[in-house]
Amino acid sequence: MRVCVIGTGYVGLVTGACLAHIGHSVICVDNNEEKVKLMKSGQSPIFEPGLSEIMQSAIQSGNIEFTTDISAGVSHGEILFIAVGTPPLPTGESDTRYVEAVARGIGANLDGGYKVIVNKSTVPIGSGDWVRMLVMDGIAERQKTLVPAGGAAIEEKLPEYASQFDVVSNPEFLREGSAVYDTFNPDRIVLGGNSPRAIGMMKELYAPIVERNFAEDKSLPQVPVLATDLSSAEMIKYAANAFLATKISFINEVANICDRVGADITQVAKGIGLDSRIGNKFLQAGIGWGGSCFPKDVSALVHTADDYGYEAHLLKAAVSVNERQRLIALEKLQQALKILKGKTVGLLGLTFKPDTDDLRDAPALNLIEQLNRLGAKVKAYDPIISQTGMRHGLSGVLVETDAERLADGCDALVLVTEWQQFSNLDYGKMAKLMCHPVMIDGRNFLDPEKMVRAGFQYIGVGR
Ligand code: NAD
Ligand code: UDX
Repeated sequence: MRVCVIGTGYVGLVTGACLAHIGHSVICVDNNEEKVKLMKSGQSPIFEPGLSEIMQSAIQSGNIEFTTDISAGVSHGEILFIAVGTPPLPTGESDTRYVEAVARGIGANLDGGYKVIVNKSTVPIGSGDWVRMLVMDGIAERQKTLVPAGGAAIEEKLPEYASQFDVVSNPEFLREGSAVYDTFNPDRIVLGGNSPRAIGMMKELYAPIVERNFAEDKSLPQVPVLATDLSSAEMIKYAANAFLATKISFINEVANICDRVGADITQVAKGIGLDSRIGNKFLQAGIGWGGSCFPKDVSALVHTADDYGYEAHLLKAAVSVNERQRLIALEKLQQALKILKGKTVGLLGLTFKPDTDDLRDAPALNLIEQLNRLGAKVKAYDPIISQTGMRHGLSGVLVETDAERLADGCDALVLVTEWQQFSNLDYGKMAKLMCHPVMIDGRNFLDPEKMVRAGFQYIGVGR
C-alpha cells in the first residue's frame, strides 16, 4: 500500500521503516531539513537497535523515501500517519500545536482520492474529531486561495471533500530501545474509528505483522486487532501508560518500605510477580520512571480528568511517588557521604533507559541539577552519549569517555541507567581509583556481593 508518515522521530521513523520493510511504499516527511538529509543517506538520526539496517535495506529496495515536502507525501499516501511530537506544556497538558499544523497541512494538500488519516501521535481524548475539523479547515483555506471569490460554492463542495477521508486513531505502544522488535512483535494493534472502509484499509496495512510474518516467533497466534471508537482508542494509550507507570510507582513505594524494615525488594518483586494476576514485568524498583512518554502522558491524563471535574487521586499519587523516587539517590548519597558540597559524584548512565540516546525527562537530569545545587561536582559516563556527543539538555556535568576515567577521583558512583555493559566493568580497578568507593545502585542492577568483593560500599534501592 502507499503510505505517508509525517514526523520522523522515535515513532514516525520506526513506523515508516518497518512498513517499508514489510513491502509497503512509504514516503516519510519531516520539516527538519538536517534530519531529512541524514535519513536520505541511510543514517538514522536516533540510536535505536536494528533501525539503520532496516532503513538501509528499504532505501535499497526503493520502498522508502524522505522529504520535507508534505504535498509530495500527501499525494503519494492512501494512508497518512501523523506521528509528530506532543510534548508536555508547563501545565501538564499536551502541546498539540504540531499535530494541528500537520492536520491543516494535510487538508491543504488533499488532491482527490480517498485517504485514511491516522493519528499515531499520543493525543488528548477527543483529538480524532478535532483533527477531522482541522483537515476540513485546511481544505477550505486552500479552496479560498484557489478560488478567491468562491464563497458559497466552496461551502457547497465541503461535504464532498468530507467524504474523501476518514480519521483513525492507531496508538503506538513501542518502547524505545526495542522499537523495531516491538513493531514486528506487538501485543496488540488498536484501531479506533467509525469508518469500516478506513478500518479495513488499516487491517490490510498491518496484515503481514498480524500474521506474524516478521515476528521472532512465527508460531504464535495472530496479533489481536482491537477495533474501537475513536475516544476509546485514544484512552487505551493513556490508560496503558498510566497503568505501567503506576505499577512502577507501586513497587518503588514497597521498595522504600523494604529499606526501612530490612526486606529485599528484588525477592519481594519475584514473589509477587509469580502471581499470574500481577505478572513479573514492570516490577523493577529503582530511581523512578522517566522518558518522553510516562511523565507527559500520566500528567496529561490527570489534566484531562481535571478538565471534566474529576480529581484522579491514584494517578496524582503515582506522579508524586515518582517525583520523590527520582531523588532517592541523592538521599542515599547524603547518608553515605554526609556533606555533598565539594564532593565529586560519578553517574553511570545518563539516558532514561538503556539502548536509547533519549535524554527526555531522564532521572539523571534531576540528579545532576540537585547535586549541582548542593555544591557537588558531577561527572558521567554513558555508552551512547559519551560516544555520540549527543548532549541535548545536558548541563552541569562533565561527560567522560570511559568508566575508569569516570571513577577516577570520585567520592561516589551512582548507577542511573542499567546498560548491559555495566555488568562487566572492572569494578575492582574502579574502586581503587576513587576517593570513597561508594556505589549507589539506582536500578538494583549489580550483584551486591560482587561489589563488596570489589571494594565498594554497596547501596541499592530497597535491598
Ligand atoms: P519526536 O520528537 O522524536 O519526533 C517528532 C518529529 O516530528 C520530529 O522529527 C520533528 O522534526 C517532526 N515534526 C514536527 N512538526 C512537524 C511538521 N509540521 N511537519 C513534519 N514534521 C514535523 O517524537 P516521538 O518521540 O517520535 O513521538 C511522536 C508521538 O508519538 C508523540 O505523540 C508521542 O507521545 C508518541 N509516542 C512516542 C513513543 C516513544 O517511545 N517516543 C512511544 C509511543 C508513542
Ligand atoms: C513506554 C511504554 O512502555 C511504551 O509502551 C510506550 O509506547 C512509550 O512509553 P518507554 O518510555 O520507551 O516506553 O520505556 P519503558 O521501558 O516503558 O520505561 C519507561 C521508564 O520506566 C524508564 O525510565 C524505565 O527505567 C522505568 N522502568 C521501567 C522502571 O523504573 N521499572 C520497570 O520495571 C520498568
